Parts: sequence; C-alpha cells; structure tokens
Amino acid sequence: MSEISSIPSLFSTPGKVAVVTGGSRGLGLHAATALLLSGCSKVYITSRKAAVCDEAAASLNAVKGIRGKAISIPADISKPEEITRLVKEIGKDTDHVDILIANAGATWGAPYGTWKKEFWDKVMTLNVTSVFLLVQEMTPLLAKNATIADPSRVITTASVAGIKGFSGGPNATYSYSASKAAVIHLTKHLAVELGPRRILCNSIAPGFFPSKMANVLIDVYGGKDKLAEKNLNGRLGVEDDFAGVVVFLCSKASSHVNGVVIPLDGGGHLVGDLFRPDEAEVKAKL
Ligand SMILES: NC(=O)c1ccc[n+]([C@@H]2O[C@H](COP(=O)([O-])OP(=O)(O)OC[C@H]3O[C@@H](n4cnc5c(N)ncnc54)[C@H](OP(=O)(O)O)[C@@H]3O)[C@@H](O)[C@H]2O)c1
Repeated sequence: MSEISSIPSLFSTPGKVAVVTGGSRGLGLHAATALLLSGCSKVYITSRKAAVCDEAAASLNAVKGIRGKAISIPADISKPEEITRLVKEIGKDTDHVDILIANAGATWGAPYGTWKKEFWDKVMTLNVTSVFLLVQEMTPLLAKNATIADPSRVITTASVAGIKGFSGGPNATYSYSASKAAVIHLTKHLAVELGPRRILCNSIAPGFFPSKMANVLIDVYGGKDKLAEKNLNGRLGVEDDFAGVVVFLCSKASSHVNGVVIPLDGGGHLVGDLFRPDEAEVKAKL
C-alpha cells in the first residue's frame, strides 16, 4: 500500500509565514491571496505606494475563509537601504520566514534604434540585483525553521521573455528580457547555494497575464482576444493559473523540487514568437 500523504496536506501552506514583493496588485496580489487561502498564518506584502499597499492588505484580510493575516510594509526594494529596512521591519514581527516570493518587477519598452543605457539600469536593478540582495538579507530568517523534511522556499517571478526571443517593435523590452533570463539563472545559482541550508529556490516564468504592467504590451500585440486566439491553448493566463503554481511550489508537494523554472504560458514559449506584432502597424509607429 502506498503511504502518500493526504492530498490537501500535500498542496497547502498551513501556518507558514510568507513575504511577497510587489504584493499590492497583479501577480503578487494573486500570490498573496493564494498563500492566505492555502493556510499561511502571516503574509507580508510590500510595494512602493504606502496607501495602495495598505489597501491591498486590507482587501486580503477581507478574503472569506482565511485564518491568517496580511501585513503591509511599504518599501522601494530597488534601493538596498530599503531592503535592509524591510527585512528589519519583518524581523520585528516574526522570528522566521518560510516563503519569499520575489515578484516585484519593472519593464521598459522603446524602439531598437532609440535604446539608451539608462533604460537598462532601472530594470536590471529591480529585476535582478534587488532579488539577490533581498534573498541574501532574508536568508537568516528563511533558514531559521527550515529542515530537510520541511524546507523554506524562495520563488522568483521570471518571465517567458527570459526563455524565448521576443520582438516588441515600438515597445521592445531588451533590458526586461535580459533581466528575466538573468533572474532564472540567478535562481538556479541560489538553489545550489541555499539548498544545503534547506531553502529551495525555483522560478515561475509567466507568459501574458493581464496586469498594469502587461496591458501596455498586450495592446501593442493586438489585444487580449487576438493574443488568446494565437496561443496554443487558446487563452492568456488567469489568476488561478498563478495561484496554483505558487501554492504547489510552496507546499509539501514540491519539497524535492529545487532550481527549476516553470513556464506558465499555455506552451507558447515552445513555438517561437507567437506574439509578433503586426509588421505594418510596427513600421507605422517607428
Ligand atoms: N503580467 C504578466 O504578463 C507578466 C508576465 C511575465 C512576468 N511578469 C512578472 O510578474 C511580476 C509582477 O508583474 P505584474 O504583471 O503583476 O505587474 P504589476 O501589476 O505592475 O505589479 C507590479 C508590483 O510591483 C510593485 N513594485 C514595482 N516597483 C517596485 C519597487 N521598486 N519596490 C517595491 N515594489 C515595487 C508594484 O507596486 P508599486 O508600483 O506601488 O511599487 C506592484 O505591486 C513582475 O516581476 C513581472 O516582470 C508578469
């Protein structure tokens, strides 16, 4: 007879303490919601705009069926001193963290010929450097309760843009693609460094999920319906897709998974640039 655990116990996060960067909206808010619904006792969310972060925490605390609590700690994590402050603030309220979702990200879009050095700095700093600094500063809290049987987790939100080539025409996102490839590789490197400390590190690489950040590019590519129709499974990402993978990667079910990247795009990354913008429209805008 097989001795597998109960399925609900494999896919849940009972009593866990989580931190979600960029938790005030979009994918980060979906992750924070999913973690509370799957049993986390505390979910710290962070983003720059204090009022929006506080409002998001209040909306999370109003979600039906949760026992845990969302806590807002606004911070601009593109600044090293703010990362230090964030980790200190979290450390005043808890002696350990089980889950870190390093999700906050930025992008920059411009036509190829107009790209300048400064378009790189903001994106690479937030999407790569800050991820490393945050994980590094949070390692003592992540390691505190981590064991072989019950390891802590770091999940980075990468992108299929870091796996496949993209066009982008008037909104080409060179620093974004490079940053997401970098964060995928950084996560593998962290998996090697932190695995022995019982902290598993994995990446999620989403395709298009409508959000404040993605909607600009979704429009450039012809809108949600056109993109959904072109994708292999006939649709774009929805909240449950992200929630499901986040809960899996934070649950007992994935406690032997370390250093992987999960593309979350209906398979679109397998078949080249499905999302090539219309050539005539692009030429007209350049
Ligand atoms: N949506 C997609 O289609 C898609 C696809 C692939 C990958 N992704 C990745 O998923 C992650 C979330 O994107 P999203 O689509 O959910 O974008 P979004 O809706 O624009 O959310 C971004 C979040 O990050 C926060 N943030 C931005 N800069 C920050 C900073 N310096 N310090 C702290 N927080 C900051 C934002 O709040 P404030 O502005 O108030 O700081 C917001 O909470 C990003 O890493 C993105 O690259 C998204």
